[in-house]
Amino acid sequence: MSAINYSDKIPNNVNLSEDRTLQRALEHWQPNYLQWWQDMGPDGSQNFDVYLRTAVSVDPQGWAQFGHVKMPDYRWGIFLNAAEQDRKIHFGDHIGEAAWQDVPGEHRANLRRIIVTQGDTEPASVEQQRHLGLTAPSQYDLRNLFQVNVEEGRHLWAMVYLLHKYFGRDGREEAEALLERNSGNADNPRILEAFNEKTPDWLSFFMFTYFTDRDGKFQLCALAESAFDPLARTTKFMLTEEAHHMFVGESGVGRVIQRTVNAMNQLKTDDVGKLRAEGVIDLPTIQRYINFHFSVTIDLFGADQSSNAATFYSSGLKGRYEEGKRVDDHILKGNTYKVLEVHNGQLLEKEVPMLNALNEVLRDDYITDSKGGVDRWNRIIEKAGIPFKLTVPHKAFHRNIGTLAGVKVSPDGRVVNEQEWNQKVEEWLPSDQDRAYVGSLMGRVTETGKFANWIAPPVMGINRQPVDFEYVRFN
Ligand SMILES: [Fe+2]
Ligand SMILES: [Fe+2]
Repeated sequence: MSAINYSDKIPNNVNLSEDRTLQRALEHWQPNYLQWWQDMGPDGSQNFDVYLRTAVSVDPQGWAQFGHVKMPDYRWGIFLNAAEQDRKIHFGDHIGEAAWQDVPGEHRANLRRIIVTQGDTEPASVEQQRHLGLTAPSQYDLRNLFQVNVEEGRHLWAMVYLLHKYFGRDGREEAEALLERNSGNADNPRILEAFNEKTPDWLSFFMFTYFTDRDGKFQLCALAESAFDPLARTTKFMLTEEAHHMFVGESGVGRVIQRTVNAMNQLKTDDVGKLRAEGVIDLPTIQRYINFHFSVTIDLFGADQSSNAATFYSSGLKGRYEEGKRVDDHILKGNTYKVLEVHNGQLLEKEVPMLNALNEVLRDDYITDSKGGVDRWNRIIEKAGIPFKLTVPHKAFHRNIGTLAGVKVSPDGRVVNEQEWNQKVEEWLPSDQDRAYVGSLMGRVTETGKFANWIAPPVMGINRQPVDFEYVRFN
């Protein structure tokens, strides 16, 4: 593992200078990437000095160095975690064999597809968030948005490195295509549906980073188990950055709730109209945003039964979340798992072969994990003495993929008919009015240490800096 040389055109810890062909190919891709960042990256941000962390090495002291930088000058680099000596494949049909340092021919198409699908989400989220800087509720929040954006850019670099190094000409073409698809573009959209949705306001942004970046965490964790060692090492390092994205979401929603319950106690009311007149976001609206982002995100795990999922696992391409901590045989032939199906208008559990249900296994692990933050949000409400509880909706609610796409289900898990759905949908999902109201609150706050009215300040600043630190110099 060499130290990272920041005078290199492309900072890296993969000895890029020793592979001239690869270096040239990536240096050819780099200006296209920068052009994409100009065209599709954060709007109106080119000249600000932003207090960002940059990875300078993968060890604990070096992966987060803080300082003010102009975003287009951010050093997007290529970093892999250190190789584990004699790493063995620890699940699937090849269990016990040496991990692959190159791509086996028979798995080439599937691995490429997995890497491209992951890679596509990274620039997609930057595109989804590109206008949010114009309405940031504080310098602190603007800095966090930009931190998330530059790191998603780096995650794209991570996947593009794998494509260029291991997939030859096909890989180079895929790397170009990652810059050509655009979120929400009718002719050339991003691959996964949730990454074509709009992120129109900051409540959506916080929900996205809480729920959808957490999908990223689970996908990356599953890939970090891969028999293809370069993919495992790359995704492990991406995960260190992902934690901050979910923190931005969890703390962001928490601060919105804090501000709202403060206003509820001050005005002694839970009346939505009065709270909106005060300019805060009522708890039922926050619940509807949760319902939306949760349901759209759990679709990302794919169909509840999938022969692809079985193939990816058995061939060693993609493990389960925390594969190494599980105590079964890690082969799973003969094991079963419960999935939901609709029978005579009722949701019923059905046992199916676990290998085919691995999307559902990962989805269920995700659901358990995502409830933790919702519990912590509820503690803020409880502490304020307010009798209101946020929940994640039933997993069959508002689904668009798999068996459950065919039924209408309420947030508490009742199958409902079309009529009831239409009557209640505005109680369950953000309505146009909700979105217009939240949108009306958005306006950029640029003064150091000041926060928009609809959100409480954070408890702590970034990197032990005070909350009123100058996180962004607008120049
Ligand atoms: Fe990412
Ligand atoms: Fe992320």
